[in-house]
Parts: sequence; structure tokens; C-alpha cells
Amino acid sequence: MAPAGQRGSASRELLNTINRSFGSMEAMQSEFNQATADRFGSGWAWLILKADGSLAISSTPNQDNPLIDLPGIERGMPLLGLDVWEHAYYLNYQNRRPDYIKDWWPLLNWKEVNRRYAEAG
Ligand SMILES: [Fe+2]
Repeated sequence: MAPAGQRGSASRELLNTINRSFGSMEAMQSEFNQATADRFGSGWAWLILKADGSLAISSTPNQDNPLIDLPGIERGMPLLGLDVWEHAYYLNYQNRRPDYIKDWWPLLNWKEVNRRYAEAG
């Protein structure tokens, strides 16, 4: 996340890969949101860069991440991650995890996601 005015937006290169991998930015966000909804209890949702150059949504339990070789978990380089442990949002959102995620998207630091993509890609 970043303060207003410092968030930027997805670079042309990143946006092209998002479109190629998911069809659109909206489809990527929708799949990401679904991954957080499917993650029962504590964990993380991720946008990852896979070895073949495509992007995917991954989700890990507890403190795990998609760099770790885990059964049933899609592996890749994390470009963006969201903590969906209750401690990340419970104080403000109680059990309304989808509202927390909806409010989080506009705060995203795309400049940092672009940097990670450029470094890893
Ligand atoms: Fe946390």
C-alpha cells in the first residue's frame, strides 16, 4: 500500500501480462478476491509470476508463501500479497473480510508491483 499520490498504476508491460493471463484487470481482481474468500481462516492471497512468464493467483495458509514447495499450492514469485489473517482487519472490519479487500484495492502501491515485475520478469 502507499499514500495517495504515490500509488501509480500498473505498467503497460504488467497490464499486458495481466490481460494475457486473466483476460482483464477486473478478472484478475475477481479471481484474487475469490481466493481470499476461499481461504478459510488465516492465510494470504497472492498475485504470482510463474516460471513460464504468466501470472496466476495463489493462496497459502498461515505464514506460508508461494515460494515454498507446498502440495496443491501454485508456486511463483510473489508480486503482490494480501494478509487475510483476522488481525489484519478485525479491528476495523470484524468478520467482513470482503469489505476489507474491496477497500484495500484502491490503496495498492502499483509502483512497487511494477518494480517487482520488472525485476522478476
Ligand atoms: Fe499479518
